Amino acid sequence: MEYALITGASKGIGKAIARELASRGIPVLLVARTEKSLEELAADISQQYHVPADYLALDLSDTAAPALILQWLKEKTYTVSMLVNNAGYGLSGAFTRYSCAEHEAMMQVNMHVPLVLSSLLLPSMQQLKRAYILNIASAAAYQAVPGLSSYAATKSFLVSFSRGLRYELRNTPVSVTVVSPGGTHTDFAERAQVGAKAVKAGQKLNMTPEAVAKEAVDAMLAGKAEHICGWINRLGAFLTWLFPKAFAEKTAAGIYEVQ
Ligand SMILES: NC(=O)c1ccc[n+]([C@@H]2O[C@H](COP(=O)([O-])OP(=O)(O)OC[C@H]3O[C@@H](n4cnc5c(N)ncnc54)[C@H](OP(=O)(O)O)[C@@H]3O)[C@@H](O)[C@H]2O)c1
Repeated sequence: MEYALITGASKGIGKAIARELASRGIPVLLVARTEKSLEELAADISQQYHVPADYLALDLSDTAAPALILQWLKEKTYTVSMLVNNAGYGLSGAFTRYSCAEHEAMMQVNMHVPLVLSSLLLPSMQQLKRAYILNIASAAAYQAVPGLSSYAATKSFLVSFSRGLRYELRNTPVSVTVVSPGGTHTDFAERAQVGAKAVKAGQKLNMTPEAVAKEAVDAMLAGKAEHICGWINRLGAFLTWLFPKAFAEKTAAGIYEVQ
């Protein structure tokens, strides 16, 4: 039996992706820190969609986490044919507001874990008939974002890494897709400590995690290279490309309230 492994599946977009995949008959493996949420979701998915669902609770900012996931997969003899690198978070405000260790922990979760899991799982995924890697980046990947500087850079990394890897794997059974949501109604803004102005700016335009999950899974299964969720975010990325970089950066700085 082949499984989809989804990181950050305890809530938000990852939870919605797990449900979306399970609703299409795909067994799921859920990873995040909050054991109770994972346990409840796994039970709910098995009952509602009649597909196997299991979970592993761990902190992905721990450098040992990817190896522990691989060990767990081996022990349970789970085969992964879909790797969904979704877990991630932001740190908003001035760069100097956070310690170096806090930036590095975020980089670990947002960048290193997707890279290391890809490295660990690709040898077995390449033996399958068809396999997928889905990386969840962000609309913030397409410009520098003062007030979310290190977060936006981790997401630019993910877009670039995904596209390069996809090309390298073009003659193998593994398809790589990077999906960039824009503002989405989840706990992201709260954890990132985003200010009231940015929260208010996004409120009317935010998508639901379910809508993002559907677009993400559709893009992955269609074998797309890259997809930005929602027409307004696609327009935003186009305008960012069109306008001088300094203009886009000043606008973002205003929204994220940094000088
Ligand atoms: N919401 C947005 O506006 C938005 C926009 C663009 C991109 N994104 C991206 O979408 C992805 C999902 O975010 P979301 O909006 O769904 O946010 P969310 O509701 O805060 O969910 C984040 C998920 O990541 C997990 N996670 C965070 N830190 C972790 C850690 N150290 N170890 C293990 N799991 C961890 C969380 O689980 P636990 O807390 O249980 O560990 C949770 O399942 C992220 O990569 C984010 O950057 C979000």
